[in-house]
Amino acid sequence: MTFRIAFLPGDGVGPEVAAAARRVMMRAGEIFGVPMKFEDYDFGGVAIDRHGDPLPPETLTECLEADAVFLGAVGGPKWDKGGPRPETGLLALRKHLGVYANLRPIRVMPGKEALSPLKEETARGCDILIIRELTGGLYFGEKHEGTERASDNCVYTREEVTRIARIAFEAARGRRSKVTSVDKANVMATSRLWRAAVIALHETEYRDVELEHVLVDAMAMKLIQRPAGFDVVLTENLFGDILSDEASVIAGSIGLAPSASLGDGARGLFEPIHGSAPDIAGHDKANPVGAILSGAMLMRFSLKAEEAAQAIERAVEATVEKGFGTGDIGGRDSCSEFAERIASAVKR
Ligand code: NAD
Ligand code: IPM
Ligand code: MN
Repeated sequence: MTFRIAFLPGDGVGPEVAAAARRVMMRAGEIFGVPMKFEDYDFGGVAIDRHGDPLPPETLTECLEADAVFLGAVGGPKWDKGGPRPETGLLALRKHLGVYANLRPIRVMPGKEALSPLKEETARGCDILIIRELTGGLYFGEKHEGTERASDNCVYTREEVTRIARIAFEAARGRRSKVTSVDKANVMATSRLWRAAVIALHETEYRDVELEHVLVDAMAMKLIQRPAGFDVVLTENLFGDILSDEASVIAGSIGLAPSASLGDGARGLFEPIHGSAPDIAGHDKANPVGAILSGAMLMRFSLKAEEAAQAIERAVEATVEKGFGTGDIGGRDSCSEFAERIASAVKR
């Protein structure tokens, strides 16, 4: 059986980093005998230009039928001037795929602490798994858009909180057994429900896992003050978006950070956490590691090819360890050169 990967390069640096990830996944697939077929579809700004719709029906149908979906990035100044937005397509795709759990691992590579803007002793040992709720909250509540008054509505149900909290506790059991739940329970009703639901699940099923609650403003501070003190960080959609960009630079660059968005089945959506980076797009300068590590997550979670996933992760570390990389991490490689080095470092 050949796995079908719906491949959505998207906009800006999206196609550059997506090509890099495909190259490395193909290499790992050959070595470990994981047959994959990549099928390209229009999505985001390019899809608006070609079809007037960021998520054309064909793209959606193919994503729903695929074994996994890989996305580069979407968006850019061209589509910021009114009319349909690429980002709307991404939110709709996440909702249709039912991928409510967004896993964003942030890891300072041992020996590579100097890449961090933090002091090396502060960055050392940072290994965080951010678990961001992805299909609820402010992103999906009713909106009213006006020139004099506008509103976004934040809604969470107990069931939505419980299912994402379960993912966090399960993940923590396979790691260092600690969950930090981040909310704004001193102000927001949804956060008070969030906290109550997390506590209830913890008390009934996960007493063995350490649980702490931190308010989101304090979390923004603690993340840079003592990043190594966190294991699994569980939070809602908007807070997770903001905190994951903040956390990503602890390791050196947002270009290093991957993500997996998962639902109840094996099929997931895999994308680097960064955007289309219009400031560097078209120059073959983007760091492909976030995309490549998203490819490793795709092979792990959707294709169940754990050995291939680990081999990609080892190849990235070995290549960065040798001092190679794009400009954002102090190297001199182009995106494609860096990807080629990583591809050739993939080994059994
Ligand atoms: P961005 O993540 O695109 O860029 C922020 C900064 O990080 C820029 O300076 C950029 O050059 C740098 N950067 C990003 N990726 C990099 C990489 N791989 N290597 C090196 N440097 C990198 O965020 P933004 O500029 O706020 O957003 C640009 C567009 O992307 C917007 O339209 C936004 O909506 C969209 N966006 C899309 C996604 C997605 O598709 N998942 C995620 C975030 C933002
Ligand atoms: C991300 C992005 C998206 C989000 C945007 C582009 C809709 O910032 O994946 O982090 O806010 O979820
Ligand atoms: Mn974001």
